[in-house]
Amino acid sequence: MDLKLKPSFFFSSFILIFLLINSFDSGSASTPKCISTERQALLTFKQSLTDLSGRLSSWSGQDCCSWTGVLCDARTGHVVNIDLRNPSQAVNSDEYKRGCLRGKINQSLTRLKFLSYLDLSSNDFNGLVIPEFIGHIVTLRYLNLSSSSFSGEVPASLGSLSKLEFLDLYAESFSDSGPFALRASDLKWLPSSLTYLNMGYVNLSGAGETWLQDFTRLTKLKELHLFNCELKNLPLSLSSSANLKLLEVLDLSENSLSSPIPSWLFDLTSLRKLFLRWDFLQGSIPSGFKNLKLLETLDLSNNLGLTGEVPPVLGELPQLKYLDLSANELNGQIHGFLDAFSKNKYNSLVFLDVSSNKIAGTLPESLGALRNLQILDLSSNSFTGSIPSSIGNMLSLKKLDLSFNAMNGNIPETLGKLAELVDLDLMANTWQGVLLKSHFANLRSLKSLRLTTEPNRSLVFKVPSTWVPPFKLELINIENCRIGPKFPMWLQVQTELNSVTLRNTGIADTIPPTWFSNIASDVTYLILANNRIKGTLPQSLAFPKLNTLDLSSNSFQGPFPLWTTNATELRLYENNFSGPLPLNINVLMPRMEKLYLFHNSFTGPIPSSLCEVSGLQILSLRNNRFSGSFPNCWHRSFMLYGIDVSENSLSGEIPASLGALPSLSVLLLNQNALQGRIPDTLQNCSGLTNIDLGGNKLSGKVPSWLSKLSSLFMLRLQSNSLDGQIPDTLCSVPNLHILDLSGNKVSGPVPKCISNLTAIARGTTNFEVFQNLVFIVTRSRKYQEIVNSINLSGNNLSGEIPEEILDLSYLRILNLSRNSMAGRIPGGISKLGRLETLDLSRNMLSGAIPESLAGISSLQKLNLSYNKLEGRIPQLLKFDDASVYIGNELLCGKPLPKKCPKDVNRRML
Ligand SMILES: *[C@@H]1O[C@H](CO)[C@@H](O)[C@H](O)[C@H]1NC(C)=O
Ligand SMILES: *[C@@H]1O[C@H](CO)[C@@H](O)[C@H](O)[C@H]1NC(C)=O
Ligand SMILES: *[C@@H]1O[C@H](CO)[C@@H](O)[C@H](O)[C@H]1NC(C)=O
Ligand SMILES: *[C@@H]1O[C@H](CO)[C@@H](O)[C@H](O)[C@H]1NC(C)=O
Ligand SMILES: *[C@@H]1O[C@H](CO)[C@@H](O)[C@H](O)[C@H]1NC(C)=O
Ligand SMILES: *[C@@H]1O[C@H](CO)[C@@H](O)[C@H](O)[C@H]1NC(C)=O
Ligand SMILES: *[C@@H]1O[C@H](CO)[C@@H](O)[C@H](O)[C@H]1NC(C)=O
Ligand SMILES: *[C@@H]1O[C@H](CO)[C@@H](O)[C@H](O)[C@H]1NC(C)=O
Repeated sequence: MDLKLKPSFFFSSFILIFLLINSFDSGSASTPKCISTERQALLTFKQSLTDLSGRLSSWSGQDCCSWTGVLCDARTGHVVNIDLRNPSQAVNSDEYKRGCLRGKINQSLTRLKFLSYLDLSSNDFNGLVIPEFIGHIVTLRYLNLSSSSFSGEVPASLGSLSKLEFLDLYAESFSDSGPFALRASDLKWLPSSLTYLNMGYVNLSGAGETWLQDFTRLTKLKELHLFNCELKNLPLSLSSSANLKLLEVLDLSENSLSSPIPSWLFDLTSLRKLFLRWDFLQGSIPSGFKNLKLLETLDLSNNLGLTGEVPPVLGELPQLKYLDLSANELNGQIHGFLDAFSKNKYNSLVFLDVSSNKIAGTLPESLGALRNLQILDLSSNSFTGSIPSSIGNMLSLKKLDLSFNAMNGNIPETLGKLAELVDLDLMANTWQGVLLKSHFANLRSLKSLRLTTEPNRSLVFKVPSTWVPPFKLELINIENCRIGPKFPMWLQVQTELNSVTLRNTGIADTIPPTWFSNIASDVTYLILANNRIKGTLPQSLAFPKLNTLDLSSNSFQGPFPLWTTNATELRLYENNFSGPLPLNINVLMPRMEKLYLFHNSFTGPIPSSLCEVSGLQILSLRNNRFSGSFPNCWHRSFMLYGIDVSENSLSGEIPASLGALPSLSVLLLNQNALQGRIPDTLQNCSGLTNIDLGGNKLSGKVPSWLSKLSSLFMLRLQSNSLDGQIPDTLCSVPNLHILDLSGNKVSGPVPKCISNLTAIARGTTNFEVFQNLVFIVTRSRKYQEIVNSINLSGNNLSGEIPEEILDLSYLRILNLSRNSMAGRIPGGISKLGRLETLDLSRNMLSGAIPESLAGISSLQKLNLSYNKLEGRIPQLLKFDDASVYIGNELLCGKPLPKKCPKDVNRRML
């Protein structure tokens, strides 16, 4: 619905007709003669203008009364009317821009002594100040300067226009060279002759706290538009409200009024339209609205703060056609209001929007009484229960939106009567029950159907397999609702679809290739995820409008579809597609941004033409059978931020050209057969957050430049052949939460600076952001389990466990097993109060197990086996599996069979 608060068409046509009648009234049918001084004035005026589209080309020759936009009095021949409004009203269109008059407004206009109508609206005066001299054209009754990119102070000289009835200064500017802003810091000059005033977008914040008083002087006013005027301080009482007895239209929207709805409004008994949206109004909706018997339109939407119930008195207003209360904090139930409407014999309501509030309870049967309602939006509330069967009486309904509620009942068959219904949105509820042919019996006009429920609800289509519905949908969105196992006839005949989402609908069939080819030309979203759809895709189709293709988690097989498309997102993951990717994928899908092909059976090389897909952001190819080397042709691209090619059979080196990707954040190359060194160029990718290169054949040292990766959250280099020492620089990676160097040949000590891993020491909380970055690339949260972990197992590390490690108080997993570490387990180990897993097995640790280990209540897994520990196992340690301690010859006590000497003594006593 277009709520651009332009003055009503009524008034402008009214005055035009008035002027036309005036000119014919004079009785003379002869063409008026142009007065030569006025002709000269018009020519001078024209000369000052810039007229790119030549729409003033008729302004030549003697008879100025026949020039475009000029009207003369039929009797006297005086120019009475100049209408130079932009012929195009499609703002921002090329046509509009060409149509804009520019330049200056010449004072010669003041020589038109009988001018009563001047419309210069929708032009582009490029920040010109409204000329003072317009106030000298005292004959004006109509002045329209709206949307013409004037700026500065509105001249008080306009106050001399004592005959002025219509003043339109609406200041929204569509100029490319703006922004331009009009302001009025004084309003005392406003002529009291005004019946129509529009100062939308004029900055009135300088007009002081008494701005409203200045308007109440205008006792003839019928329309007042003060949209987006930076007004504050709406007075709660107003002695002069009686002066506005004639006011029919009041628009104060988009001001920061931040007050309750004032009671003086209810004295304005002529009001037909009241717009108070985006005003930060607070409090409840007063029942005083019952005084406004002529009210047709009430817009209180987007105040975000109106509370209380929808007052039943609104249901009693005889003329009310349009009611928008959306985006507030309204609560309670809607019964009182709807019951009142059901008794309202005028039944005028056409539009009702109470979406995005907190209204609860069920929908009453009285809803069905709104027989003239065309738009009903109850979305994003907390409604429960079923749709009342009286819905079938609302035969005018074109749009029904109940989405994002908690409706947990059935959908009545009477819905199928709504022959005018175009848009049915039942998304995001917890519907149950069955849907029959009768639910859709007369939905001839339906173009858009959204129906989703919770995965654990039972909502089932039970329609005959040959059913052909009366509608041709353009949009369908059905989720968690059983349609299958067959791909039904009623879907096969939907050939006008442009947006398709059928997610988790139990379809376990093949889809006829003709269905794809039928919708290919118009479809923008094609989402068939989480079904069990079988078969192969038709090769070689063109999808010119496709944006997103999601066939993930099905049983598709066969080759990658050679579809030409400008789609930006392709999700084929979790299927059984096989064969190679097309080498010219950059030609077929040049706009690809997110390519998710993981968990299939693709083979062959990863095409190097992917380097030419300039918008590529995500390359997610995990768990296929890609072979050969990873392309080494990356050039500077600010887009690519996620690469997951793990679990394939890639060989060769990690390409050095990855260093050309400044936005690279997630790099997962693990579980392949990559060899060689980790390229130094990766230090260029300073945005790297998650690196997993594990399970390859990489050699060389653990890179010392890692400290340059200040965003690094996860570093996993496990199961390679890296050697050298752990570089001290690793300690200064401030955001590291996951470190895994296990299964390499790293030697030397665990550096004492390890306490500098501040993310693990202080438990910085931003790791969810990093986790989400991985999730976007992998659609999996597998790394979540190892946040705050250090795994250095299976290396040649020596020396003692540094005391400094005890500073890492958020550490959850510590694995130092299978090294050559000696010395004692630090006595202060209980400082690691969040430790869940501690594995120190297969080292040469000696001394006693510290008693304090028992103080770590979170500890679930412990392995101290195969060391040289000695003495009594602390009795408070709750691990009663001997394998935790086995292989330490000098340990004694439970759960080991070996008794400690003291125990022996005690028994002997
Ligand atoms: C002023 O002109 C604009 C179009 O440029 C129009 O939308 C508006 O209704 C006019 N104002 C009046 C009062 O006629
Ligand atoms: C109006 O036009 C005349 C003649 O072209 C010119 O001399 C004068 O400066 C113009 N005045 C304005 C205000 O543009
Ligand atoms: C409106 O005018 C006031 C002063 O009168 C000024 O402080 C404010 O910035 C102006 N608003 C805008 C959007 O320019
Ligand atoms: C269904 O699942 C939702 C979460 O998806 C849960 O909130 C709800 O309690 C479940 N309902 C039933 C009946 O199991
Ligand atoms: C992609 O868009 C370009 C222009 O934006 C167009 O020429 C081309 O035909 C489109 N490709 C497809 C496959 O639709
Ligand atoms: C996947 O496809 C291959 C052949 O392309 C086939 O051998 C295999 O059985 C399929 N796997 C499944 C689970 O359907
Ligand atoms: C890495 O950055 C250095 C300079 O910062 C630059 O010379 C080099 O070319 C970059 N490497 C790549 C692969 O882009
Ligand atoms: C560790 O942090 C301390 C104190 O912030 C600092 O002096 C030291 O240089 C850091 N060590 C390393 C290796 O970053």
